[in-house]
Amino acid sequence: MKKLFVVVIALSLSAAAFAQGKGNAKSIANGKFLFEDWGCTACHGIGPSYGAKDELQGPNLSGLYKRRTEAWVLKFTKNPAAMIESGDKDAVEMSKKFSKTMKTFKMPDSEWNDIFAFIKSKQ
Ligand code: HEC
Repeated sequence: MKKLFVVVIALSLSAAAFAQGKGNAKSIANGKFLFEDWGCTACHGIGPSYGAKDELQGPNLSGLYKRRTEAWVLKFTKNPAAMIESGDKDAVEMSKKFSKTMKTFKMPDSEWNDIFAFIKSKQ
C-alpha cells in the first residue's frame, strides 16, 4: 500500500513538472493575460508575432531563452535593479542601452511561471 502511494505521488509530480516545462495551454493563456495586465506590453514586444516588432522602452523578448538561461531570467525579473547593481554583465549592458530601468513587479511565482510560459510560446 505504501509503495503504491509513493508511485502515485511520483507520477503526479512528474506530470506537474511536465506541464510546467511545456507550458500548458491554461498557463500560457493566463500568462498572456498577465503580460498585458501588468503592462509589460508598454515596453516589450515578443518577436514579429506578438506586439511591437522593434524595441520599445525595453528589449524585444524574442529569442530571450537563446541569449539567457532560465536561472538568469528568473533572477533578473525578481529584481532588475539589484541585478544591474550587482554588476551582472548582461544586465549592465542592457541598462546602458535603455534609458529606463525595469521596475520590480511584485507577483507570486505561479504568475511569473505563467508569464514565462507565454513568452516561451512566442519565441
Ligand atoms: C517601463 C518599461 C518596462 C516595463 C513595463 C517592463 N519592462 Fe522588462 N525591461 C525593461 C528594460 C528597460 C529592460 C532592460 C534592462 C533595464 O535596463 O532595466 C527590461 C528587461 C527585461 C527582461 C530581460 C530581457 C533580456 O533580453 O535579457 C525581461 C525578461 C523582461 N524585461 C520582462 C518583463 C516582463 C515580464 C514585464 C511585465 C511584468 C516587464 N518586463 C515590464 C523595461 C520594462
